[in-house]
Amino acid sequence: MSKTPNIKHIIEGETDFLVFKKKHSVKGPRAKDKLPFYNPAMELNRDLSILVCQWLINNSSKHVHILDGLAASGVRGVRIKNEVIGDFDITINDWNMDAYDLIQENVKNRSLTNVDVLNKNLNTLLSEKKFDYIDVDPFGSPAYFIDSAIRSISNKGILACTATDTATLCGVYPKVCNRRYDAMPFHSFFMKEVALRILVGFICREAARYDKGIKPLLCHSNDHYFRVYIMVRNGVDSANDSLKNLSIIQSDEFIFSKNPGVNVGPLWIGKLQNKQMIKELRTILFEKQLNTKNTLWKLLDLLEEEADAPGFFYTTDDIASLLKVSPPGMNTVFKKLKNNGYKVSRTHFSPTGFKTNAPKKKIESVFKNYS
Ligand SMILES: C[S@@+](CC[C@H](N)C(=O)[O-])C[C@H]1O[C@@H](n2cnc3c(N)ncnc32)[C@H](O)[C@@H]1O
Repeated sequence: MSKTPNIKHIIEGETDFLVFKKKHSVKGPRAKDKLPFYNPAMELNRDLSILVCQWLINNSSKHVHILDGLAASGVRGVRIKNEVIGDFDITINDWNMDAYDLIQENVKNRSLTNVDVLNKNLNTLLSEKKFDYIDVDPFGSPAYFIDSAIRSISNKGILACTATDTATLCGVYPKVCNRRYDAMPFHSFFMKEVALRILVGFICREAARYDKGIKPLLCHSNDHYFRVYIMVRNGVDSANDSLKNLSIIQSDEFIFSKNPGVNVGPLWIGKLQNKQMIKELRTILFEKQLNTKNTLWKLLDLLEEEADAPGFFYTTDDIASLLKVSPPGMNTVFKKLKNNGYKVSRTHFSPTGFKTNAPKKKIESVFKNYS
């Protein structure tokens, strides 16, 4: 297969592998594409999954079985097997026959062991076997796979999900969001956080149906996707505790909201990040050879900073525009709020975004009197 003209070599991290040439696009895949897709823009997404899998192996007292459930070229699974240190099994699966052949070739070329390559419908596979880490990286929404992934994941296993249906989750298509995630989105300057929380809330409700609870470990948004790493824990108490973090929010409760009287959610209002895990991921990152190391470092830095911050962020641009003033610099906002005894942190959602426990009046006064 490597002699085929439309195949080429790619290197990500410490792994070289084969992909089909025609499938490069930064805009993202289309479900009707027949050849296995490879998206170079997802390298950071895959790099982070290498760190999370290493963290899982480092912290596991039993033999770990990892699943790359929607593998396409197999790049994620092959990289995990090649770059994560430790003794573990991995299953790499895709229902597309060309993908299956390519994955087999990629596994063979690297002489990897303890790798099972399968050509199944992911939902069928998940109903047959249990895994400790399940990666769901679909075209669009992961919603169709969550029920079976929750049933398959072992106690304290990690469910990793990408959602590229960002327009739906951000409120461009509210009816689709309602159908797919059983939740109402909110098109606003903080829509990405609402979207991420709707996705986590959906996973929480799916888990609760099977008496399982969730603990978000790391959740982030990016230009064209959302990504969540969720630990799933067995037990009625765990399910009930998790459900306490679900809420429907009246849009009037969002200060600086331009669209009052709307119900938003249900969504997850608990923590999205696990600070201790992020610290440990940093140590792992230090030791790995990854092309996105600097960007990942900055992302982990921001996620750690906002881990304990209140839900929902503001942006200097949006508040300034609502108050009809010019936006103060981030330094000014941070200094003034901190000097008044409030907590304030940056957020990965936006370069001009910040989170604070300051009340509306105080924020307004900072924006109106900063010069
Ligand atoms: C976005 S691509 C995966 C990209 C890959 N994870 C990566 O990092 O390059 C989604 C893949 O899911 C596969 N797929 C879609 N629905 C599936 C299903 N129900 N069962 C198994 N594979 C499926 C498609 O054939 C496609 O290759």
